[in-house]
Order: sequence, then C-alpha cells, then structure tokens
Amino acid sequence: MKIESIATKTFTDQKPGTSGLRKKVTAFRQPHYLENFVQAVFDVRPDLQGGTLVLGGDGRFYNREAIGIILRMAQANGVGHVIVGQGGILSTPAASCLIRKYRTQGGLILSASHNPGGPDADFGIKFNMPNGGPAPESVTEAIYQRTLELEHYRICPPSGINIDHLGEHTLEGMKLTVVDPVADYAELMQSLFDFKAMRTLLASGLFSMRFDAMHAVTGPYALRILEDLLGAPEGTVMRAEPLADFGGVHPDPNLVYAADLVAVLNRPNGPDFGAASDGDGDRNMILGSRFFVTPSDSLAIMAANAHLLPGYRQGIAGVARSMPTSCAADRVAEALGIACHETPTGWKFFGNLLDAGAITLCGEESFGTGSDHVREKDGLWAVLFWLNLLAVRRQSVAEIVKEHWQRFGRNYYTRHDYEDVDSDAAGDLMQTLRARLPELIGQSFGPFTVTAADDFAYTDPVDASVSTGQGLRILFEEGARLIFRLSGTGTSGATLRLYVERYESDPGCLLEDPQSALRPLLELAESLAQIQHYTQRSQPDVIT
Ligand code: G6P
Ligand code: ZN
Repeated sequence: MKIESIATKTFTDQKPGTSGLRKKVTAFRQPHYLENFVQAVFDVRPDLQGGTLVLGGDGRFYNREAIGIILRMAQANGVGHVIVGQGGILSTPAASCLIRKYRTQGGLILSASHNPGGPDADFGIKFNMPNGGPAPESVTEAIYQRTLELEHYRICPPSGINIDHLGEHTLEGMKLTVVDPVADYAELMQSLFDFKAMRTLLASGLFSMRFDAMHAVTGPYALRILEDLLGAPEGTVMRAEPLADFGGVHPDPNLVYAADLVAVLNRPNGPDFGAASDGDGDRNMILGSRFFVTPSDSLAIMAANAHLLPGYRQGIAGVARSMPTSCAADRVAEALGIACHETPTGWKFFGNLLDAGAITLCGEESFGTGSDHVREKDGLWAVLFWLNLLAVRRQSVAEIVKEHWQRFGRNYYTRHDYEDVDSDAAGDLMQTLRARLPELIGQSFGPFTVTAADDFAYTDPVDASVSTGQGLRILFEEGARLIFRLSGTGTSGATLRLYVERYESDPGCLLEDPQSALRPLLELAESLAQIQHYTQRSQPDVIT
C-alpha cells in the first residue's frame, strides 16, 4: 500500500469549541488544515487502528471533498473499517446511532450545525467517542495539543471508490461500507415511538403538520419517516432537498430563521403542528397553530409525558438541562421525584449522565432535546416525540402546553442575542460584570432580590471533572434569573447571549407575552451590564 507522509506546518487555531472545530470553509481549504486536525484525531485515538470509524456530514459545501480526504487518511492510518453515509451524508444523531449500534471506535462528523454553508460560509469537524457522543474536553484538548506538535500526516492516494454506491467496498488494507444514511436511524425511531398511532392521527383528516428541513440534512430523513413510513401527505416536508449552501438560508430552527414555517403555522386554518430542524439535524423547533413552544418548556413537557410513549413507558431515570435553560424541567423532576441535573452549555456534558443511567431525557434552550437513545441531541426524534404525544393526548400543542403551565406554573423565558460583537468589547462586558457579582448578592432591585451571583462552574458527578467559566448567573428570589454568556460556536467576533427567566404560578397570569412579562428583568440586565454601551447595539439581533 502506498502511504505518503506529508510534511506539514502547524496551525495554532485548531482548538475545538463548544462542538468541535468550526471555521470558515476558506480556513479549512488552506493546504494541510483539515489534514492536520484529522491526523491529530488518529494520533490521540490509537484504537481506531484496526478499528471501525463512522464518517459522514450534513452535506454542506466542502463535505464531499473532506470525506474524500478523511477516507484516504483513514486508510493510511490503519483504520480497519469505515462506515460512511451514502454521498457522505449523515445527520449528527444518525451518526451517533451508527457509532453505538455497530459498536465502533468512534466517528468523525462534518458539520457546522446551524451555521450557514457555502464557499464563504462555515464548515466544521468533530470527533465522537465510542459511546456516540461528542468527545469530552480531555480528548478535544489532547487533539488540540497534538495539532500543535505534529509535523507530518499520513495519506493514501485517491482510491477512486464512489461513495454514492451503497454496499461494501474493499480498499487496500481497509474495508469501506457505504450505508443508507436513514435506515438504521428510522429503525431506532420505530423502536421508541408508536408509529401506528401517529399514522392514524395523520390519516384522520383532522390533523396536519409541516416539517421544515431548511434545505439541510433532515430532508431525506423526514421524507422517509414522515411521508413514507407515517403516510403524511406529500408536501408535509418543506425545503426537503439538501443543498450545499442550504439555499442561502441560515439553517437554524428558530423564530427568526425559520420565519417561512412560522408564517405557515400562523395562517388561519394552517397546520396543527409545525417543526423544523437545523443543518445537521440535531436541533428542533416545535410549533402549534399560532403557538411557539420554547425549547425549555418542550423539555419539561417531554419529561412530564414521557411515560405515555412506548420507548419511555417505564418512566424516566432523571433529567438534565444546561444552566441557561429555564428551570421548567426542575419542577417536573421534583413532582416525579427524580433528579434534575444542571450542566454547562454543550451536549457533551450530558454524556456521562446518560452513560451512567442517571438521566433519560436532557435538553438545552438552544433548541436541543434528546434522550438516552443516542448521545447527541436529536431534532427528528423530538418532532416524533411531540407527534406521538399529540396522537396519544388528542389535544392541540397549545392545549398541552397551557395545561402544563396550569399544573407546574410557567417559567417565562427569553434569550436575546447580540451577534458579531467586537470580541474585546464583549470580553470587557463580561469581565466588568463578573467583578461586580459578589457585591450584588443580597441587593434588591425593585421587586427582585439577588440570592446568588456567580460564574457557573460544574463538577461532573460521574468523573469529577471540573469546568469553570461557564456563564455569569444572577439568581433572584422566587425563581427569576439573569444569565450572561458568550457563545462558543461563532466563527466571527463574539456573540453575547442574555437569558432571562421569571417563574409565575398565579393561574391568572400565565398567558402574557414573554417580552412584556420579562420587561423589568430585561431593563435590569441592561442597567447591570451596560449592554448597549459595550455592544454598540440598541437592540438584540435575535430574540427567541
Ligand atoms: C451547539 C451545541 C449545543 C450548545 C450550543 C450552544 O449547538 O451542540 O449543545 O447548546 O452549541 O451554542 P452557543 O453558541 O450558545 O455556545
Ligand atoms: Zn446542529
């Protein structure tokens, strides 16, 4: 076998962020850039030698080229078997499913998630562990350290194998299996949800839904599952064709970027249920007719209703949410007598809890929900969860949510994002506020008294690893919170996120508009952190 050892130069910027290495396509296309990172992965994961690697991505611009390079490097690094999605396509949860199902030594997932795609837009790569979940910080740090020292990478010449052709291919020294990206995932979904009940609902003539694939990876998954297996009428899946630039849209399922779907759901006599997923299929947004379900409420409602669905009939062991996610799930956990864990932002922090069986469901305010069925958040899974719930409860989305609030109270919640802010200014804002936190404790601002204020740190209950600097929290009496965090996923400048929450249990006050219900807290946030001054913005760019 011809293996070339290519002399390379060091790039100092390959430290993975919240979810792998994300950069502009132009960065990844620099000679040796992708190769260095991939070599570092092979170097720090020696069990891939002779082992099996899952490989696929969300189909964005540069996906296919990157797959070609990684296959040649896998061959040169002695990987025994690569399982690749047909055409190089795998949604992130489907990749996690394959890693687990075939007990592989891990996977490489190519995606920049909800970031735009195209020659001038974003690309990304991350390594997932044998449990199917994103590598923990110890591993991403080791990969990064390795990128700083490696001088060569190993690569074979192109094999000429066509990854559009399903089935087994034998390369010199390596087996390659091209799999249907949807099949195993669809099978897993059928083991968790009541497809018969969902089919009946969709055939009833009394219900319709719309799923927005945003020209991203979930198109083929949603077509197969919703239209083929569940019999939803053609056209239920909109923007179903995956495109390398997502048709120019920002493939992020929120009220701003999925405005087309929101408009459809707002129509008189529009669909009863709407949902969308992101670039790589792990995020979800849930809508009813003229009704938006916050991801935080969605998690809480799932926890309260999981026992109604086949895969969770035995009840849930526990739940977890990221720190900025609203505390709605905590109230459900309390009622169920199970633990609710609070983790830093980033799906990887759920991995140990899931592996230890401490939790069954988990979710984040950033439009992610999932369960122990894989080790990634899972967009279509969340959609099917809701669809199954609608089929069982025979109520509208809004009715289910409002009943939930009546029972548990409502955590009014909003997130304000200030995007592409000057990095130094954003750092200054955080530093200044951090320094002020101790003096805030015990102070009252109108009706709000600060009970605690800190920079969130987390000790993993399973492996005792400590993660510090995870966001500034100001907690008030009676469940109000202000949280300030800098995004870990952007590729230019800094994004400041302000998360605002207030708990309301008065049954007569549950249906206010969150922006007005939270107005006093938003004003307090501005006065404490001087957001306008530091960001030079009078308004956030995105409100969810
Ligand atoms: C990715 C991760 C999520 C995380 C989110 C936070 O989507 O997979 O687990 O919640 O990034 O993004 P941010 O931009 O707020 O750091
Ligand atoms: Zn994603």
